[in-house]
Amino acid sequence: MQARIVTTAPDQVAADAIILPLFEGSRRIPPEAASLDRQLHGALQDLLKSDHFRGKFMELAQVHTLGTLSSRWAVLVGLGLERELDLVRLRNALQHAGRSLRKRGTESLAVVLTSPVRRKGAPADVARAVTEAIALSNFEARALRTRSDEAEGRLTSLSIVGLDGGRPAATSVNQAVALAEITNQVREWINLPANAFTPTIFATKVREAVRGTGLELSVLELADARRLKMGAFLAVAKGSDEPAKVIVLRYRGGKKGGRFLGLVGKGITFDSGGISIKPAEHMEMMKGDMGGGAAVIGAMLGIAQLKPAINVIGVVPTTENLPSGKASRPGDVVTASNGKTIEIINTDAEGRLILADGITYAIRQGATHVVDVATLTGSIARTLGPVATGAFGNDPRLMSLVKKAADLAGERVWELPTWPDYDGLIRSDIADIKNSTVQWAGATTAALFLREFVEDRPWVHLDIAGSAWQDAKELKTIPLGPTGAAVRLMAHLAGLLAKS
Ligand code: BES
Ligand code: ZN
Ligand code: MN
Repeated sequence: MQARIVTTAPDQVAADAIILPLFEGSRRIPPEAASLDRQLHGALQDLLKSDHFRGKFMELAQVHTLGTLSSRWAVLVGLGLERELDLVRLRNALQHAGRSLRKRGTESLAVVLTSPVRRKGAPADVARAVTEAIALSNFEARALRTRSDEAEGRLTSLSIVGLDGGRPAATSVNQAVALAEITNQVREWINLPANAFTPTIFATKVREAVRGTGLELSVLELADARRLKMGAFLAVAKGSDEPAKVIVLRYRGGKKGGRFLGLVGKGITFDSGGISIKPAEHMEMMKGDMGGGAAVIGAMLGIAQLKPAINVIGVVPTTENLPSGKASRPGDVVTASNGKTIEIINTDAEGRLILADGITYAIRQGATHVVDVATLTGSIARTLGPVATGAFGNDPRLMSLVKKAADLAGERVWELPTWPDYDGLIRSDIADIKNSTVQWAGATTAALFLREFVEDRPWVHLDIAGSAWQDAKELKTIPLGPTGAAVRLMAHLAGLLAKS
């Protein structure tokens, strides 16, 4: 998709559809759109006056311009109450509008920004939000359908009208297109079924994706994992016949000995639970259990485009979690690559096992700061739903950068506590730690487990088990399906850490 900020008057912009976002309770067409309304003989104003359009969040009204404007359609988009709108919700409303227009064959769009919308952020941030929303609306979960009766449309161009942000805003538009398209790629990977996205296929797709980006790829095979004594990772991998791998990407943008960010993502291509097998209902959703790993790859691709002055390593242990005669059993004790012994109480708490060795690898490679990301616990999904990512950490400075990065990305992150009051949850009677415990504080237990492997490096753990997949029909704010959570967040984080 092409996107740019234009200085053309709204009634002169040539596009299939021109979008005018309006707040709930707006009674008058704002001055920025007065020329549009004039050409339309007051049709837009009439929609407001007659209450045909109230500006409710995500409400749409579409008017044919009958050749009076350079755009074929004028579209009002509801933003809800002005005081409730932030740049996350602006993205949601515009993604909804973009998606709905795309499905009706729209290819080129213009968005008119009025001053109350512009006041929601710095020009570069508003421009980023609008651009990402429209580019994200190009995602369609249809990769394996052969039916030809579905609209295959794509939005190919976006003009942002009414924003004057100079160079920074123009740069942010270009970055936003790149980051949103990478996010859509990650969403497609997450959507693929486990038979079309094995660890081997994952590595192949990464190899294709990094071509020409300057990122360095290395793929550790099972033999390498054995040599590195990744006993926790191998304990999960051994139940599957698909060869497990650790996908490693390196970005060199910083000085030797400077800050070095380690991004570690959970790449379980299918999670049956292993011997502690999951119930059949909804088990098919566990094809998405590589969402954290895919997000790390996406973030590395984003970093290669944003080019922050820092070194970054992306580490993605990837395997299936299956039951078999070779699978780990509850009660087994294994030794992780940092030497700690782990009692496997529940083979379905596999994510923290593979991350443990992934984190250790990142640190051995020199990471000074660690962020891990994983569809880790049903517990966080029950707490936050698909709306937000849960964050845990051991360092307020890194945590505050993560929150800033989330704001830049238009993602919601909510911090949860790691008070020492919870210590004891991972204590084992037979080994150093155990991978599962009581029924409560499940997301916290997982975080405490991971903390055992960060060797006092500043660290943040992002649990995207809820936010990686929007499955709540009750919430219409994000389209159903994979969201690409944490991709843009981690890409921005590298830049913020470089400058902090
Ligand atoms: N992949 C799951 C977590 C998950 C649940 C992701 C729902 C997405 C949606 C993870 O491996 C898991 O099974 N976690 C268990 C841990 C428990 C056995 C300690 C859980 O959360 O129930
Ligand atoms: Zn899992
Ligand atoms: Mn599991």
